[in-house]
Amino acid sequence: MKRYLDCNATCPPVQKALDASAQAAIEAVGNPSSLHWAGRAARRIVDDARDALAAYVGCESGSVVFTSGGTEANNIAIHSVLSGLESGRVICTAIEHPAVLKPLQRASDHGFEMVSVRPDANGVVSVESMIDAITDDTRMLCMMLVNNESGAIQPVQQVADYCRSRGISVLVDAVQALGKSVIDFKALDVDFLSLSAHKIGGPKGVGALLVKRGVKLQELAPGGGQERNRRSGTENVPAIAGFAAALGQIDFSAFAPIRNAFEQQLKDQIPEVRVLSEGAPRAANTSLFILPGMDGETLLMQLDLAGFAVASGSACSSGKRDASHVLLAMGLNDATARSSVRVSFGPGNSQEDADALVRALVAARQRLRGMAGLVA
Ligand SMILES: Cc1ncc(COP(=O)(O)O)c(C=O)c1O
Repeated sequence: MKRYLDCNATCPPVQKALDASAQAAIEAVGNPSSLHWAGRAARRIVDDARDALAAYVGCESGSVVFTSGGTEANNIAIHSVLSGLESGRVICTAIEHPAVLKPLQRASDHGFEMVSVRPDANGVVSVESMIDAITDDTRMLCMMLVNNESGAIQPVQQVADYCRSRGISVLVDAVQALGKSVIDFKALDVDFLSLSAHKIGGPKGVGALLVKRGVKLQELAPGGGQERNRRSGTENVPAIAGFAAALGQIDFSAFAPIRNAFEQQLKDQIPEVRVLSEGAPRAANTSLFILPGMDGETLLMQLDLAGFAVASGSACSSGKRDASHVLLAMGLNDATARSSVRVSFGPGNSQEDADALVRALVAARQRLRGMAGLVA
C-alpha cells in the first residue's frame, strides 16, 4: 500500500484545483493580452483568480503578481531591491529556503554583506537576534513565516514592524505558511511576500509575489510587459485558475491530533527518538524527528520500500548528500542532522497512516540495528 506523507515537499492536487485548471485550459483558448473575446475570456479567469487570492491573503488585487512559483517570487523580490544598489547589508535567517539563500549568496559575491541569523534549538529565530543584526546600511531583510523542515513559525510581524520604522525592505517567504498559519498581508505590512500553489494542493509551477503598493519591481526576465510590467510572459491561465481554486481547500490544522498521536507513539516505542521544534509554535501537519545513530537517507529508502513517502531533512535538497542547513543551524552536529526524518501530513492521510508509519519505523530501526550488530 502506498502512503504519501510528504506534503511539505508538495501536496497532492485537490479535486477543485484539477477541475478549475481543466476547465480553464478548455475555455481560455485566447491569450489574456489579446483584446478580442477569446483574450478577454482568458483575462477574466486570471483577474478572478487574482481577486480570490487577494481576498484570501488580505491584500489589494493590484498587489498580486503571478509567477512560476515561490522560487521565482523570492528571486524577483531580492533582485528588485538589490539591482539598483551596489553594496550594503542583507539579512536573512539561517533557516531560509535555498530560493532565498542562493540569490542572497549571489548578491554577497557582488559586494553585499550577507548576514544570516541562527535560530534557537527549537528552530525559531528570535526578534531580538534579527533586530541586533540590523545596521544603518541594511538594505533588505528576508524572513520565512513557516519553516519547511521543522514547521516552526517565525515571529515575522515584530521584525517587520521594526524594519518598517527603519525603512528596510522586507521579504517574507510564506510558501509553507499558506493554509498552515494566518497570512494577512495588510497587517504584516511588508514589501514582499511569496506564495506557491503546489503546497496547498494547487498546480506545480505557479505561485505569486505580493507587492506592497508603491514598491517597484525590477523584472528578472523582461519581455511583453504582462502583470503590469512586473513579470513578463504569457500567464499560465490553467495553473492560475487551479491556484485560486485550491485556496482554503486543505485545513492543515486538522492534522494536529494525528501528528501529536504519531509523535507520542514514536516516543513510546523508540525511546531515543527526539522530536524537533516541539517547544515552538509550529505547523500542525509537520513532524521532524531524529533517530540517533540511524542514517535518515537509509531509513527513507527502507520506508520507501514499504510504500511510505517521507523526507529526510528537506526534500528540496534530496539528491545531494549534505546535511540539512536548517538542522545544522539549530545546533545539531552533522551526524545527528543526517539522522532526521520529516513527516508532513496532508489530504487523504489518516491516523491509520500514522500508526502504520510508526510500525514501519520500529521495524526499520530493528532491521538496521540488527545489521549493525546491535541488540534490536
Ligand atoms: C519555504 C519555501 N520557500 C520556497 C520554496 C520554493 O517554492 P517553489 O517550489 O514554488 O519554487 C519552497 C519549496 O519547497 C519552500 O518550502
